[in-house]
Amino acid sequence: MKQVRKAIIPAAGLGTRFLPATKAMPKEMLPIIDKPTIQYIVEEAVEAGIEDIIIVTGKGKRAIEDHFDHAFELENNLAEKGKLKLLEAVQRSSKVDIHYIRQKEPKGLGHAVWCARRFIGDEPFAVLLGDDIVQAEVPCLKQLIHQYESTGGSIIGVQPVADSETQRYGIIDPIAKEGRLYQVRTFVEKPPAGQAPSNLAIMGRYILNPEIFRFLDLQEEGAGGEIQLTDAIRRLNEIQNVYAYHFQGVRYDVGEKLGFILTTLDFAMQNSELRTQLLEEMEKMVRKQSQAIG
Ligand code: G1P
Repeated sequence: MKQVRKAIIPAAGLGTRFLPATKAMPKEMLPIIDKPTIQYIVEEAVEAGIEDIIIVTGKGKRAIEDHFDHAFELENNLAEKGKLKLLEAVQRSSKVDIHYIRQKEPKGLGHAVWCARRFIGDEPFAVLLGDDIVQAEVPCLKQLIHQYESTGGSIIGVQPVADSETQRYGIIDPIAKEGRLYQVRTFVEKPPAGQAPSNLAIMGRYILNPEIFRFLDLQEEGAGGEIQLTDAIRRLNEIQNVYAYHFQGVRYDVGEKLGFILTTLDFAMQNSELRTQLLEEMEKMVRKQSQAIG
């Protein structure tokens, strides 16, 4: 069995949910505390043993390339001033080898992945979506790679969501379960409310066999008029087993405003330099609000 060495990170979305912040800045560069969201994703891939990363970008995404490049002036400046912790943090973002390719038209996630087909070639590969950050003892992607190594089939990361949320996600229709691994009857992208076959939602982490490109090559439009990765996965599952894995860890949704704010607060609570003061300030805020209401 071939090893999973390569990863695709699609980052071509327009980021309309965060306008006007994303008018001139890629949404992937919005920080949680002091680190752009895309760096959390890249670090997870590296911790899972990925050697080569390709980021699929679009218009106005140059800041991502600059971020993962060496910043000699800044690094020299920090070194001269003895700010070694900051220097290490800055250098961490330029240690991985990252490749870039442009998605020329915004045709959807399936199309973004298809744009990287030549980079992937005939190997299994990972896809990580930037709207989902996962905190876990064993990095989420590593958990999926372990499952790939024991099954040889594509593995889709899932977690349960509330019934009211299923129409926002790709949803699996499970057949059988062994531990946290599911055999899947079919995959549905954003089923209409009340019609989801389960509440197990695809959470932005995939290990895919290269045969997926046979189906992405067809360029068929699905939900929302876009070329959907979930549709190609459903087709792939018809010719070889595609599994879903309920990964361990906490998943943060940084693709929408409330999720982004909650993630920032949760990460700040885990930060010893911020926690105490943040708690005090939040208590004050809560008191003020309750007085306003009461
Ligand atoms: C994409 C996928 C969907 C998945 C979701 C996870 O949707 O198409 O299957 O559940 O990411 O975040 P998007 O949120 O880009 O519309």
